[in-house]
Amino acid sequence: MDFTATPAWSALLASAATPLPSLRELFAADPGRAAAMTLGAADLRVDFSKQRVVAETMQHLIAVAEASGVQSRRDAMFAGEPINTTEGRAVLHTALRAPRDAVVMVADESGARHNVVPEVHATLDRMAVFADRVRSGAWTGHTGSRIRTVVNIGIGGSDLGPAMAYKGLFAYRHPDIECRFVSNIDGADIGQNLSGLDPASTLFVVSSKTFTTIETLTNAETARAWLLGGFGGDESAVARHFVAVSTNAEKVAAFGIDTANMFGFWDWVGGRYSIDSAIGITLMISIGPEGFREFLDGMRAIDEHFLHAPLAQNVPVILAMLGVWNSNVMGAQSHAVLPYAHELSRFAAYLQQLDMESNGKGVHRDGTPVTGDTGPIVWGEPGTNGQHAFYQLLHQGTRLVPVDMIGFAHPNHSHRNHHDLLTANLFAQSEALAFGKTAAEATAEGMPATQVPHRVFTGNRPSTTIVAARLTPRVLGELIALYEHKVFVQGCIWDVNSFDQWGVELGKALANRITPELSGPSTHLTTHDSSTIALINWYRDQQQETT
Ligand code: F6P
Repeated sequence: MDFTATPAWSALLASAATPLPSLRELFAADPGRAAAMTLGAADLRVDFSKQRVVAETMQHLIAVAEASGVQSRRDAMFAGEPINTTEGRAVLHTALRAPRDAVVMVADESGARHNVVPEVHATLDRMAVFADRVRSGAWTGHTGSRIRTVVNIGIGGSDLGPAMAYKGLFAYRHPDIECRFVSNIDGADIGQNLSGLDPASTLFVVSSKTFTTIETLTNAETARAWLLGGFGGDESAVARHFVAVSTNAEKVAAFGIDTANMFGFWDWVGGRYSIDSAIGITLMISIGPEGFREFLDGMRAIDEHFLHAPLAQNVPVILAMLGVWNSNVMGAQSHAVLPYAHELSRFAAYLQQLDMESNGKGVHRDGTPVTGDTGPIVWGEPGTNGQHAFYQLLHQGTRLVPVDMIGFAHPNHSHRNHHDLLTANLFAQSEALAFGKTAAEATAEGMPATQVPHRVFTGNRPSTTIVAARLTPRVLGELIALYEHKVFVQGCIWDVNSFDQWGVELGKALANRITPELSGPSTHLTTHDSSTIALINWYRDQQQETT
């Protein structure tokens, strides 16, 4: 259903036809604005008062969410219905953080329904035993050395979540175990990450939902060759140094990893929603099974909030609808996520896959083309680094860029003076974006008239501030689930399938075709366009010149 055809959307547009006062004016007129537009969800405090909306806008946006069937689609997701229609799958990352006694029924291929929670917990238990053995040194390498480095090999959802969370929870890591992450097919990635490692104390976790992904399999082959090089070609070393995470036991075995060393998950877990599955094993080794349980509990707390809070106080729904407002009414093309926590330096990259692979869609669920914009371009860097790079455009550029700013009351380090400065910058930036500086204020500061236009900040630039006491495993879990559900709600509004990713297929297929053409016998490359043929020939010539 096209949400723009609903009466709720027409009512929203009608109310938006009268331009809203600026944020300066809105705050001046209503001293209670911040209190009225700040909500709590689990440990998160979310202040959206600096968004360009008024109470009436929010009422209309919530009406749009209701008219779009957000509640029934949410319930269908949690109930294990096959809402990923193009792949005929349930979407149940929420079952991965369900408590042990929960019941989540899913239909198998024969249509028979069974409770998946026992298998989820059985896997978590196996992961915990393994993680504890690695952490304690009970799990040793081929020559009896304890594991000092875990190298996670995966890409997309099999990399971004664990890599982001490992950095995010660096303060909670095991002090004697370093984790590294290899994803790119570019040999520079694995080359740099193997550098300085001792095969005897290195464990590889090969993570791939499908176990067919060329990047991961190529990197895993290279890692195995490197390992065998360190053990004089002794194949029996592999079992102590390679574990796999996948839904595909057959492919894992075919690759040469004993399935006894495999942690499984299920096709109802999407890659970009899999950090809370066995894909999180590297994170669990780092922060320990208890830390991982807290992480899952944080996700669960937001699931509960999403399930039970009324839509008007439902934080993922509010964030989603503000995004719809900014994109589909105000015309924003992108959305920046700016964590004031250096540990979250990969958070925007993680959200890029979560959001852009989910909602970067051009057709509705029934296959008809969408008429307006769907998912935004998501990007961001941690503050304060971003301030010295791209904030100029945020403050004085011509584009509208809504931002989420994320911060914490307490740091996970002891440099309190740094943290006060960091937090002052966070608050200052949201204030500057919202309220700017007028020409009169610049003049009153003594600015020469020729300088004034350059010193004006228009303000009225929307931001949401998300804060919590401290970045803990639980709070990181909450943040991730918050964005997962936000993306889900937006997918409901835009009526797209947020759980497939066919858009990545064409490039993969063409790369498979081009790979042999780069080095094989010279062929007539007539199946390509003139530009691609010229590029392939240039590459082939370059290889000949250097051989
Ligand atoms: O980029 C497409 C994609 O299928 C992602 O959705 C997924 O996270 C990634 O590739 C890796 O896939 P796999 O875990 O199967 O190796």
